[in-house]
Amino acid sequence: MKKIKKIINLKNKRPIVCLTAYSKPFAKILDKYCDIVLVGDSLVTAMLGMKDTHNVTIETMIQHGISVKSNLNNALCVVDMPANSYKSIKQAKKNAELIFNQTKCDAVKVECNGRNYDIIKSIVDIGIPVMGHIGFTPQLFKKFKTQGTSEKNHYKLLDQANRNQEAGVFSIVLECVNTATAIEITKLLKIPTIGIGASVNCDGQILVTDDMIGLSGFYPKFVHKFINLNNIIEIGIKKYRKAVLSKKFPKKKHTF
Ligand code: KIV
Repeated sequence: MKKIKKIINLKNKRPIVCLTAYSKPFAKILDKYCDIVLVGDSLVTAMLGMKDTHNVTIETMIQHGISVKSNLNNALCVVDMPANSYKSIKQAKKNAELIFNQTKCDAVKVECNGRNYDIIKSIVDIGIPVMGHIGFTPQLFKKFKTQGTSEKNHYKLLDQANRNQEAGVFSIVLECVNTATAIEITKLLKIPTIGIGASVNCDGQILVTDDMIGLSGFYPKFVHKFINLNNIIEIGIKKYRKAVLSKKFPKKKHTF
């Protein structure tokens, strides 16, 4: 709970730095630079090539959650609840407990479909911190669409943000939310807003790591490629191929 309070206290102090990780090597690097590391269900699209996150299993999230959390010392670890794991209060509590106990994560993330406030509250009530997620919620939608642009949708999002806070979330992801709506939600809430495609006005920012390092091949408008790892990896693979074909690898020093 100390770690959760630390995140909440960052609101209005400095931007909160968040990224996704699915494995040990990334967790180890991100731990040095991020306040929050999310084991997002985006792992199945970014890493496994699935077309959406609709059919992620709880076993997958737990396996990657363990790998990430066991390699974090400082950053807060949040694990996504898979789409089909919180259809009822009973199921949500059981699965949140399973993820929390097995991965030893600090919190779970629940996407808001505009209905599941009682589900969020029931998880918070058993002592498991929850991060909310509104706007474009990939478990529900199929295609990217900016949220909050119509007046009706703007007020719907304000209401959802407020009800998430009332249900007890400690922070909330705003995905693909237009700037004016993100500003108003950020002002309205006491808890931090974490934006992805929701402008610099949020209390923090998150991106899918594989997108921002140029690995996933998925680059929507809100992603900036901070490095193109795809090219760097290709250079290494090409060198390997050349060395194998020319018999320059392995050398004596690599041999027993
Ligand atoms: O699954 C994920 O990576 C996410 C982030 C995009 C917020 O939910």
